[in-house]
Amino acid sequence: MIGDRAIETPVMLAPLAGITDRSFRKICRRAGAGMVFTEMVAAEGIIRDSQKTWNLASFQDEERPIGVQLFSHDQAALSEAAARLEILKPDALDINFGCPVKKVVRRGAGAGFMEDPERLAEAVRSVVENSSFPVTVKIRSGPTYDRLTAIEAAQGAQDAGAAAITVHARTTAQGFKGEADWEVIATVKDAVGIPVIGNGDIVTADDMVAMKKQTGCDGVMIGRGSLGNPWIFSACRAACYGDAWQTPDPSNRWDLIEDHLLSAVEDKGINVGVREMRKHLGWYSKGMPGAANFRAAVFRMEKPEDVHECCRQFFQNRIYPVGADHG
Ligand SMILES: Cc1cc2nc3c(=O)[nH]c(=O)nc-3n(C[C@H](O)[C@H](O)[C@H](O)COP(=O)(O)O)c2cc1C
Repeated sequence: MIGDRAIETPVMLAPLAGITDRSFRKICRRAGAGMVFTEMVAAEGIIRDSQKTWNLASFQDEERPIGVQLFSHDQAALSEAAARLEILKPDALDINFGCPVKKVVRRGAGAGFMEDPERLAEAVRSVVENSSFPVTVKIRSGPTYDRLTAIEAAQGAQDAGAAAITVHARTTAQGFKGEADWEVIATVKDAVGIPVIGNGDIVTADDMVAMKKQTGCDGVMIGRGSLGNPWIFSACRAACYGDAWQTPDPSNRWDLIEDHLLSAVEDKGINVGVREMRKHLGWYSKGMPGAANFRAAVFRMEKPEDVHECCRQFFQNRIYPVGADHG
């Protein structure tokens, strides 16, 4: 449960800036993700009415349940943006307390809040007061291993009215490197009563099962493990319900990849849609025989019908472009 919203399968797609756009979120929901989140959205952009920012925050009904994620260093901006986002009626409003980018942290936004759990709690309180929907937070372990502030931050967020807490079990100093330390998720789970969602380094359904067992977390969130592999959500879903699961065959894989391609083009237009799909096609083809040649060929194509046909041949019929390699 997130507030009064039931989440059918507690396996969520993480917010990934530049990646988890409408088309990818839709694909992940279709593959079995129980909830998805937008990329981080600048509170100030919402307040200024920047069309680009509103576009990042907006979503379609079929993506629900969805959380819109806000970030800012300024609690007044966060709460004003939250109030303005009411119009979109998201299922949750998430606050980013985890972005480790130096410029962001120096301004006190993102993981900058992990330095000062009291400031974090105040920000949560002011957003909760201005929102009619559940407010969730995404935190890190703390600024450094010597200063693990996750427990104080989680308790402060809970007291301020947060409905759930996602813990990315890395420190700010780690960025996205090194291993996530799942023990931090376990200590946060012990310290609060609201749902705790564990995050960091889940790349298989077995990892999900292991994280749940080790930490007792109520749900998990998957980021990089979903790139080129939205089927991780169906595998996790099957593991949650004790169902058998089989790796999708080429035709099933192509079904979803085709849907992704068409939906990206529909949503962003031909030029941007095709360009933005390139990174996903790179991830989808990773490790497949002929992948390097496929990528070289498809990345040069501009026309969506050419891209579509080349992808169909490669993913569905396993036909590589001429001169195919084997990696
Ligand atoms: C390219 C990239 C973009 C990210 N963007 C966001 C973001 O917008 N908001 C956020 O809270 N976390 C963001 N993250 C962090 C992820 O949500 C997640 O916490 C992190 O990648 C660890 O989970 P994973 O090991 O499953 O990827 C980003 C991570 C990456 C690699």
